[in-house]
Amino acid sequence: MANGVKRVGILTGGGDCPGLNAAIRAVVKAGIGIYNLEIYGIETGFEGLIKKYARPLNLEEVRGIVNKGGTILGATRRHDPFHYQERAGEEIKTMDRSGDILQHASELGLDALVVLGGDGTLRITERLSQMGLPLVAIPKTIDNDLSGTDVAIGFNTAVITAMEALDKLHSTAESHHRVMVVEVMGNKAGWIGLESGIAGGADVILIPEIPFSIEKACEKITGRTKLGRPFSIVVVSEGAKALGREETYIDPKRYRLGGIGQQIAAEIEKCAGLETRVLVLGHLQRGGSPTSFDRVLASRFAIHALRLIAQGNFGKMVALRNAEVQAIPIETAIASLKTVDPNDDLASTAEALGISLGR
Ligand code: F6P
Repeated sequence: MANGVKRVGILTGGGDCPGLNAAIRAVVKAGIGIYNLEIYGIETGFEGLIKKYARPLNLEEVRGIVNKGGTILGATRRHDPFHYQERAGEEIKTMDRSGDILQHASELGLDALVVLGGDGTLRITERLSQMGLPLVAIPKTIDNDLSGTDVAIGFNTAVITAMEALDKLHSTAESHHRVMVVEVMGNKAGWIGLESGIAGGADVILIPEIPFSIEKACEKITGRTKLGRPFSIVVVSEGAKALGREETYIDPKRYRLGGIGQQIAAEIEKCAGLETRVLVLGHLQRGGSPTSFDRVLASRFAIHALRLIAQGNFGKMVALRNAEVQAIPIETAIASLKTVDPNDDLASTAEALGISLGR
């Protein structure tokens, strides 16, 4: 590169999602082919920089991975260098290893770093950028809750996975005259729930942004029964909560959401008088082959990230805004979680279609 950048590292942090490999592939292909760079793959997020687990990535390594889910670099949630936990005998010690990140990046000869991450990883990334690490970020999260970008890598695939599950559940719900409750991921945001529910013809969609009344949800279900349709599909986001109640955690100590599907199923069975079954889609939404949308988005983001490095425009996250790829400060992306506006077009579209949002 004209600005002297010769070696670029790339890592994937936090939870995985479909489309990460497409981005890695694009960085390697264009990095080598256009910019004559050496690309180093850092393993398991920032942990790879703490432990110096890195390897050169050549074209051979990225051949045939555009359609593969997961990440060839590995990912972990336990990679925060500012609160890095290490076992010392019986004890687990928490240390600040951020200094090691900068030192090891320099020892590995990295002139710049590409970080693929969601909210948690980008908070770490922003702090490292402030400390002087030259980097650019690419947004990835099935939750789609990063501000400043219309969409992040992985979201589209997750929505389609959830939608396909809803498509398949319709027939069995109808045959058995049952209510099928489908619990989807999304953390504190209802994007997956709302979009998959609209696309998959759900009757009720419950999301974190709209505390729900179970009575309202039941009204919709019993209304259908009166019309001769004694079956319903209910989509509930893992972070949804009933009016006056808190979120449901499967593991409160580790803030792992889950269990709301089971909870409302019992209530629906009672108030709607229909047999009710639950499906928790879980990590299915994070797996599988990325959609064409995610492959193209990942490729566009990766190429733009390289452009930013060539310009020396560090500390930025690439973003999709009104169909255009742009660069925004990482701090804008993490300033607040992007959640569904209960009064915006998406929510009102659902209600105009007769879907109950439990309000
Ligand atoms: O952020 C992505 C996500 O899949 C959330 O939707 C979900 O709450 C969480 O990660 C699950 O995390 P883990 O894979 O660590 O259980």
